[in-house]
Amino acid sequence: MSADPSAAQGDARRAAVLDVYAQAALAPDASLCCVDGGTWTLPDLVFPPRMLEMNYGCGSTVSPDDLAGARPILYVGVGGGLEALQFAYFRRRKGGVIAVDPVAEMRDAARANLREAERLNPWFRSDFVEIVEGSAEALPVADGAVDVVAQNCLFNVFVDGDLAQALREVARVLRVGGRFSTSDPIATRPIPQALRDDHTLRARCVSGCVSYEAYVAAIHAAGFQQLVVRARRPYRLLTPTEFPALREELLLESLDLLALKGPRHEAAPDVYTGRCAIHVGAGTYYRDDKFPFPSGMPMQVSDRVAAELAARADFRVTPPTFHARGPGCC
Ligand SMILES: C[S@@+](CC[C@H](N)C(=O)[O-])C[C@H]1O[C@@H](n2cnc3c(N)ncnc32)[C@H](O)[C@@H]1O
Repeated sequence: MSADPSAAQGDARRAAVLDVYAQAALAPDASLCCVDGGTWTLPDLVFPPRMLEMNYGCGSTVSPDDLAGARPILYVGVGGGLEALQFAYFRRRKGGVIAVDPVAEMRDAARANLREAERLNPWFRSDFVEIVEGSAEALPVADGAVDVVAQNCLFNVFVDGDLAQALREVARVLRVGGRFSTSDPIATRPIPQALRDDHTLRARCVSGCVSYEAYVAAIHAAGFQQLVVRARRPYRLLTPTEFPALREELLLESLDLLALKGPRHEAAPDVYTGRCAIHVGAGTYYRDDKFPFPSGMPMQVSDRVAAELAARADFRVTPPTFHARGPGCC
């Protein structure tokens, strides 16, 4: 424990996280994360019941769209192994998924769940997922070594400095063009400081989350230029009855987001939220002389380009769906 008060706070915060997840590894805790779904229904994929009980995520980070490369997938914060198994479904080779977790009890629980998954799924071998000790703030992986990094419902427990460090680590281990698939709760209003300072509530994914704008800004600052919002939906309603520090109800949302690393990095991110721009003039409009907008055809655009084109009389722009599949034309 450090003599510096803020360092001591950091130590206490990290200790609370390790403690919460050691307990959650020993006995599944249904109240830990509130999520409806988060698992894919796929041919010949059977989840061990205990693995399902240990669904501590808040959305899904698994998308076949991200998995074209040949390098391993790095999964940060393994939990019961539920998403690691789903990534392994697509990778299907030894060490295709590397899962990092600092909590020994959680690593043991995930290994046991994956052994059970091997018994239930003829196509699966537990060595498809290599579980290693390590933490998000210092990933035990070489620079540029992986195609995909995924994390689900972990980064929201970090305070700003630790979050920035964890995101820098994600950017470091991804190859250029690599994909960061992330899911976290976000807050629709600022969370009172008294709740934010409660280490256990923060560790339990309740009080550490930031706004959508702050989340996007933190990921962009770490070196990700293109961000795609895949899902945004209600996650949990915090009430004054449950949390007296609140004056009124506060809705948390869950955000599934894909972020692409480089190659360029500009002052503002390109965020795709499902908006489309439709050219209503005659013929094809070429933006910047290269991106075609055929008349009448909805083209997915970033929020920045949507704002630019909405100012023109010959374009209509649709609202965000918060359900985009990949980066659009511009
Ligand atoms: C909320 S759970 C999410 C588990 C899993 N992603 C899921 O969706 O079920 C957080 C996980 O991150 C692990 N963890 C805690 N602190 C961590 C850190 N600093 N770096 C990496 N993993 C951490 C916990 O042990 C736990 O497995």
